[in-house]
Amino acid sequence: MRALVKPHAGPGLELREVPEPQVGPGEVKIRVLRAGLCGTDLHLEQWDDWAASMVHPPMTIGHEFYGEIVDLADDVVTGTGSANLQVGQRCSVEGHIVCGMCRNCRAGRRHMCPNTSSIGVNRDGAFADYVVVPATNVWAQPEGIDPELGALFDPFGNATHTALQFPMVGEDVLITGAGPIGVMAAAIARHAGARHVVVTDMSDFRLGLAQGAGATRTVNVAQEDLREVQRELGMTEGFDLGLEMSGAPAAMRQLIDNCTFGAKISMLGLPKEGFPVDWGKIITHMLTIKGIYGREMFETWYHMSFMLQSSPQLRDAVRSVITHRVGLDDWPQAWAAARSGECGKVILEIAD
Ligand SMILES: NC(=O)c1ccc[n+]([C@@H]2O[C@H](COP(=O)([O-])OP(=O)(O)OC[C@H]3O[C@@H](n4cnc5c(N)ncnc54)[C@H](O)[C@@H]3O)[C@@H](O)[C@H]2O)c1
Ligand SMILES: [Zn+2]
Ligand SMILES: [Zn+2]
Repeated sequence: MRALVKPHAGPGLELREVPEPQVGPGEVKIRVLRAGLCGTDLHLEQWDDWAASMVHPPMTIGHEFYGEIVDLADDVVTGTGSANLQVGQRCSVEGHIVCGMCRNCRAGRRHMCPNTSSIGVNRDGAFADYVVVPATNVWAQPEGIDPELGALFDPFGNATHTALQFPMVGEDVLITGAGPIGVMAAAIARHAGARHVVVTDMSDFRLGLAQGAGATRTVNVAQEDLREVQRELGMTEGFDLGLEMSGAPAAMRQLIDNCTFGAKISMLGLPKEGFPVDWGKIITHMLTIKGIYGREMFETWYHMSFMLQSSPQLRDAVRSVITHRVGLDDWPQAWAAARSGECGKVILEIAD
């Protein structure tokens, strides 16, 4: 089968023929149909310090995907509904593998497992014709879901997990960063009943995507003053909720600066290193800041499936984040599109 492999330590990737993986205990084999490119995959191709510390080549990368179950180990328990594991079942996959035995896992807080490893980083991933994953990571999808939408569930899950931390009905929401996750978060905020959904970035292309997905106002922070925008919108006290989705220190400071008393901020964007913020304002304004990692297993997945099922508008808005579709054989074009910045989500078409 074809697999996009990190062949050895150092920059680059190689599309190779490799043997098909076989299921071990508790695993299922999936025929991959569509896969999404993410910032992680850019780091892996480039081979920075983080990649060097995580990956043991040769290894197939890719962790955002949708496919069809083609084989199950004998000990895999088949179920119904979102646990329906049968040959032919279409599915998305949670990319974080947890230990199942630590305190948090046993308490049902699997997204806080200290022993998490990742598909496509710590073990062979999904930029390939087939991938083998633990059955417990599979999220069965309803018949007829668009494969592209199925391949978005990992980043859509980051957006959902972050956006649904605090009730949004009637609230004014500020989203910093219009990458694919910020764009999908704007769509969720509208679905969840926010009043103003303001999205910031420095890329007009990306702000255009956010506008299309449901932002009520986009702000290019290199050109416009956010306080001015608040006045224009008739806001007098600041934003009630903030979603930090850029990883940029300047964005976090701006978020804190534009929030009201008692505002709540969910932070998904990963800063490269520590940075100073105005702790005085955080304290005197009684702000709540919550870090968000991954997706809640599997409550976030439940919310994603059924938000999409109930809303054609949300389905279209989420799908609109996809700007490029590239066949696996042409994978360098996908990396070029993702690096250009003039993109939303880039999808690899692996099979139909
Ligand atoms: N915590 C987690 O589990 C988790 C999971 C996935 C991604 N992430 C992080 O979430 C963030 C969003 O992911 P993505 O794939 O959408 O990322 P992305 O890098 O594609 O998008 C980030 C956007 O932020 C914009 N930006 C930079 N500085 C800004 C500023 N000062 N103000 C406003 N916008 C600014 C950039 O122009 C870019 O469009 C990234 O930091 C990523 O590393 C975290
Ligand atoms: Zn990812
Ligand atoms: Zn655990």
